[in-house]
Parts: sequence; C-alpha cells; structure tokens
Amino acid sequence: MRIVLGVAGGIAAYKSVLLLRLLREAGHEVRVVPTRAALEFVGRATWEALSGQPVTTDVFEDVDQVAHVAVGKSAELVVVAPATADLLARAATGQADDLLTATLLVARCPVLLAPAMHTEMWEHPATVANVATLRSRGVHVLDPEAGRLTGADTGPGRLPEPEAIARAALALVATRPQDLTGRHVVISAGGTREPLDPVRFFGNRSSGRQGVALARAARDRGARVTLVAANLTVATPSGVDVVPAETGAELRDAVRAAAKDADVVVMAAAVADYRPRTAVETKLKKSPDGVAPVLELVETVDILAELAHERLRADQVVVGFAAETGDAAGSVLEHGRAKALRKGADLLVVNAVGGGRGFGTDANDVTILDGRGVVVATSSGTKDVVAHAIWDAVLLRF
Ligand code: CTP
Repeated sequence: MRIVLGVAGGIAAYKSVLLLRLLREAGHEVRVVPTRAALEFVGRATWEALSGQPVTTDVFEDVDQVAHVAVGKSAELVVVAPATADLLARAATGQADDLLTATLLVARCPVLLAPAMHTEMWEHPATVANVATLRSRGVHVLDPEAGRLTGADTGPGRLPEPEAIARAALALVATRPQDLTGRHVVISAGGTREPLDPVRFFGNRSSGRQGVALARAARDRGARVTLVAANLTVATPSGVDVVPAETGAELRDAVRAAAKDADVVVMAAAVADYRPRTAVETKLKKSPDGVAPVLELVETVDILAELAHERLRADQVVVGFAAETGDAAGSVLEHGRAKALRKGADLLVVNAVGGGRGFGTDANDVTILDGRGVVVATSSGTKDVVAHAIWDAVLLRF
C-alpha cells in the first residue's frame, strides 16, 4: 500500500522514525512528507534513508512532477504524526502552504492524525474546534495520551506509541469481507423530534452515531445502504443514500418506502413513543395567570413492531434496538428479553444507557438477542466494532 507519513514540527517527531520503520516492515511503500519545522527535529537524511524515497517539504520542489497533487492523489492512506496544533489549524482551514497541507487537501483516502502538543494547546477552544471540524469531515483524529510532556509538565498531549498509531492507521484500510454484496439494507438513525409549536419539540439525546456506524460498516461490506436520518449530530458517510426525516411519522414513511425491497431493516433511531396531540401553528405564549399548561400526548406507531409483524418482504431480517437503564422491575437484560418477545424482531440489540454510557460517546457495549430473547452475541468497543458484530449476527440469519 502507498502510505504518506506526514510529520509536523514537534519534539515527538523522533517517535515517527519508529512509526516509519513499522510501516515499512509491514511491507508498505511510505513517502515521508515533513513540514519545514519538522526537519528541525529530525533531518531529511534520516527520512530518506529509512523510507528509500525522496523527501520534500515545499510545493516548489519537484515542480516538474506536480508533487503537491501527485503525492496526495496516489496515497492510499495518510498518517500525520505528530500533528501539532498548528498543523491541525492549517488542515481545518484548508490551507495548502506546504506539501503536507496540500497533500491533505488532495487526498481522498482515509486520513489519520495523531496529535501531540502541550496540554494547554490541546485543550484550547481553538484546537478543540479544529479537531471537531476535522472529525466532522471524516478525518480520524486520535486522542493524545496523558503523561510526561517535553518539560516537567504532565497531562494529555503525548503522542501515542508508534505501535498504537500504526495499528489504528492500518485498521482504517483493512479490507472487509464483501459479504453484504447484492443486499439492500435500510437503517434508521438519530432521534425524532415531535413538534409542539413552530419552535418547540419533544426530542431525545440520540446522536445517531451507532446508526451511522452501521451504515458505514454495511457500505464497506458491499451493501447498498439507505440511511433514514433523523436529526443527526454527526456527518453521514459517503456512498450511502440519505433520506432525512424529522418526526416519527416522517421516519415511518421513509423506512417503509425503502423497506419494500430491503433484505435487512435496522431500527437504530430513537423514536418518540408519544407526541403532542396537536402541533399548533403559532408559538405558544406563557400563560399570564401562572397556570402551567397540561399537554395532551398521543401514542405514536411502533414502527419496529409494525415491520416485524407485517413483513413487507417475506425473507427480510428485522433488527431493533433497546436502550435500557434497568430498574426495580428488572435488569437491563431482563427488560431486553421482554422487549425481544414483545417486538417480534429477528434480532434485538440491547445496550445499557445512563450514567454517561451509550449516548454521544464513541464506545458501546451490547448484547444481541434473537426473537425469543436468547443471547446470540455480545460486543463491546467503538461503535464501528459493534456495528460489524451486528452485521455478523445479521448474516447468520440469511
Ligand atoms: N421504535 C419504533 N417506533 C417507536 C418506538 C420505538 O420503531 N414508536 C423502535 C426503536 O427504533 C428501537 C426499538 O423500537 O429499535 C426499541 O425502542 P424503545 O423505545 O426502547 O421500545 P419501547 O417499546 O418504547 O419500550 P420502552 O417501554 O422501554 O420505552
């Protein structure tokens, strides 16, 4: 594989020498693109000797080969380690004032940035915003490790170990089995909003991350993917058909329309169980007499149960989710079992929420039940890891 190893100007650049060796030993062709500042820490000769390739930093070197476009275009993976605060800022604003940033603009392959800087710089709102921007565009930004920094100071900001960076980078391009080729999968993700008036709604805290991870994983395994997206707070993956839906009713229509020819329907969206009976067209005013209004709610259609009982296509695999907290009446799993029996889906993915678990984070921990409430698999890790475990369980149903 052709890998570009970008190196920005930080003391941790010396660790990238080992990263370069690891990538080369794994059999990859590595082109090192340091910034000018990086060469203050590790010289050109080291990079050239270990990579066996010429090393340039500026867009005005090797102009005859149009290096600023060629390097990014031919890359199959770009890794930048260390990524300094300055590099993150330049990448986030799309600058192209040296070969590394020009390469980042041109590259269409997976990009992994491994930041390293002082804790203050990492925690500054400017850096936080730059990292969020890059992540929203699909760039993978590792969290730095906490520990001893350049001086006597300690805190988050250390470059992760070269082995960990190499592992994370190569995982981005690991070829997946194309075992969903020829399948159409429909995934609902996010959380519905049920309007009360033009400015207010009943909503929930679902970010849509797990549903989006399922869409990405299915795409990577060869499926045609329809993602019914309800108010996502994360970017949608490329290469999938996105159908936006705001309310439960819109989501139901979109899912049912797409499900007609689907092999699999996964209801990962958090759908409101109740909605206000009427959504008024003008803004509700605060009552002048201090009497709090009483809102009348009506039950919404249970889309998952409807799909499971109706079976729009005879051989369709229907998958539901159950976010449970557990309570006096039963544990997370007991509630999950009861829900599996009630909903009639082929698989129910149960996860514990509350206390910071499940919502808005990148980690998940799930138990997958069949329609009778029997555990068929468990998975924990990033939402991408969990997504692949769910597809593995789905594939066993075909
Ligand atoms: N779901 C649905 N339509 C609804 C509500 C929920 O399709 N109106 C789906 C969700 O997408 C999810 C599953 O049902 O896949 C579980 O939702 P949940 O709200 O946990 O189920 P409920 O039956 O509402 O159970 P609870 O009493 O725990 O809220």
